[in-house]
Amino acid sequence: MRTAVLASGRGSNFKALLEASKKEGLPIEIVAVGSDQPRAAVLGLAKEFGIPTQVFSIKDYPHRQAQEEELLIWMRKHRVELLLLAGYMRVLGSEFIQQANFPILNIHPSLLPSFPGLHAQRQAVEYGVKVSGCTVHFVDEGLDSGPIILQEAVPVLAADTEDSLSQRILEAEHRLYPKAVRLLVSGSVKRVGRRVQILQQEG
Ligand code: GRF
Repeated sequence: MRTAVLASGRGSNFKALLEASKKEGLPIEIVAVGSDQPRAAVLGLAKEFGIPTQVFSIKDYPHRQAQEEELLIWMRKHRVELLLLAGYMRVLGSEFIQQANFPILNIHPSLLPSFPGLHAQRQAVEYGVKVSGCTVHFVDEGLDSGPIILQEAVPVLAADTEDSLSQRILEAEHRLYPKAVRLLVSGSVKRVGRRVQILQQEG
């Protein structure tokens, strides 16, 4: 399945997805990587693997809609069938979501609906929860609010800092995102209203 990744930062989830596709038979081909941040490390990583990249810096456009129109054109050009957000730090507008005729997934570093938005791991540590984790969900117009496909929990330890919890969650993210994508691509994910049924779970 022809897949695009949008990311704003270091790109470790992109790398996990790419490795799963190259070494673990995840049936996607990452054909394009885009970023709103010209200096994002993910762009260099993608180039190393020969994947075309493009920057959609928000300051180059008069408004968000113009940036998102360019994103759609870029995805059509690459004949994208699946869009994966991997640390993309912008909320996509409803027009973009309606016009994209392919699934859009996101990964978030908390057990949604707890701690949406920025600094989810810091929010979890400050709140004092004993369990946190990560969530892969369909993207809708809201902030980290779309139907949930899979979640993985990790413990929050008494000595945890934002960094140590982030690291534990990140390891779970790298397992969870390829697993959720595999379910989607294999047709095992069925949306019923805002809920997602998993028809047959692998592994
Ligand atoms: C991850 O924690 C992801 O869940 C969040 O942003 C971070 C991106 O990390 N949305 P990376 O760029 O994939 O390493």
